[in-house]
Amino acid sequence: MHDGNNVLSQFLDFSPGPVDEVRVFFAPGRVNLIGEHTDYNGGHVFPGALTLGTWVFVRPRRDPVYRFASTAFPLQVRVDGPAFQYRAEDDYANYPKGVLWALQEEGLQLPGADLFFHGNLPGGAGLSSSASVEVATAFAMNALVGGGLSTERLARLSQRAENEFVGVNCGIMDQFAVAMGQAGSALLLNCRTLKYRAVPVRAPGYRFVITHTNKRRGLADSKYNERRAECEAALAQLRTVRKDLTCLADLSKEEWNALAWHLKDDVLQRRARHVVTENARTLEAARRLAAGDLPGFGQLMNESHISLRDDYEVTGPELDALVEAAWQTEGCLGSRMTGAGFGGCTVSLVRETAVERFQDEVARQYERATGLAPTFYVTDLGAGVREVTAEIEGLYMMGEGKIES
Ligand code: GLA
Repeated sequence: MHDGNNVLSQFLDFSPGPVDEVRVFFAPGRVNLIGEHTDYNGGHVFPGALTLGTWVFVRPRRDPVYRFASTAFPLQVRVDGPAFQYRAEDDYANYPKGVLWALQEEGLQLPGADLFFHGNLPGGAGLSSSASVEVATAFAMNALVGGGLSTERLARLSQRAENEFVGVNCGIMDQFAVAMGQAGSALLLNCRTLKYRAVPVRAPGYRFVITHTNKRRGLADSKYNERRAECEAALAQLRTVRKDLTCLADLSKEEWNALAWHLKDDVLQRRARHVVTENARTLEAARRLAAGDLPGFGQLMNESHISLRDDYEVTGPELDALVEAAWQTEGCLGSRMTGAGFGGCTVSLVRETAVERFQDEVARQYERATGLAPTFYVTDLGAGVREVTAEIEGLYMMGEGKIES
């Protein structure tokens, strides 16, 4: 963190006391390379953790009080524990509150704590800033009580907090990627079994470029829930003829082709077709990336976007305009929307020497089409959640007693 000392001094204003009691944790955001809207259908996803993310500064307290503050919002929230309740006016603090609730439900005896959040992920961009806050909180509180829960378990508890406390019905992809990410690799995750494999991104001379539409994802939550309901309806209808089917992504393309006609509703048929084909694309994409077939990987990124646009209908004019601009730019091997859709970001695989031209060209075409200016992030894939207390130089030195606090 470039401004670690500055954030530390803001933390100490919020939570005065000995600096050697302070611990700092970092959880990244994530970018999904391919495998969209497959996680809640029991399919595969292929996300990587980012180097951007959320830091949480924590000081345990002797009383059962929980205080939340952030460099991004003026609102501070105090809960006289131990019970946590969702309150709309608590805004961002509902995410860490939900995590504390889920940890308690798991049986953890949590000490009171002051928690202070600082991040560099764009909010509302579909790069999982909320999962990043959740997993950072879960990892930090688990560390304060001795670290008894596995990081994978913390990912699931963070998802539970978002589903049951915040009330957003997300799948497991975001929290899993944020928790378990490995630097330089994407995770091929089976969302039904949670078995996963880290696939090193061997793309010498190429970079992943994330481009933010700068369109807020307005209807995202209601449309997301609508898509989930459509998938459940499609599954229920298919189960009348395939009783053993437990999730859409379990169908191979061949099985799907034989069954598709049972779905009389065209919308349900297209939704299910996206899930089946996207799951197959994801497995094939991981194979191609591992084999160093970057043009083949890029081709699947493009096909994924087309399926999300035409069959799943979660793109919209801004994402489509960005992707079309990218497709036309020399040196770009593939481009697609990433995350839930309806705004947010695209991810593109671009030749390193063409990255600058890519940004100019895409910005020009996108602005002409939408009147909006995009933001670019040329990214590396980073590691998952971890403690970074020793990396906050000022904190370390103050802890050693070398600097007066
Ligand atoms: C959001 C959700 C994820 C996943 C994606 C779509 O990011 O949080 O669980 O469903 O959308 O792939």
